[in-house]
Amino acid sequence: WRTPVRVHVETERCQGHGVCVVTAPALFEFQDDGKAVAAARELAPADLDGARAAEASCPELAIVIEGK
Ligand code: F3S
Repeated sequence: WRTPVRVHVETERCQGHGVCVVTAPALFEFQDDGKAVAAARELAPADLDGARAAEASCPELAIVIEGK
């Protein structure tokens, strides 16, 4: 049994630093309000390094990986 892995941005924490967008552009983009949003899809194995790198580098600890 395998839990789907997803990543999301805690909007209340995000201050728009953009490290995630630079680190993993396939997974994160800016919304009109200057905060980041993560791809809603289930992460593929190839996405995991980028998701983890973004999670580790967000200064606001706003990035959460679920199901890992
Ligand atoms: Fe926001 Fe962190 Fe990305 S503050 S823009 S989620 S690096």
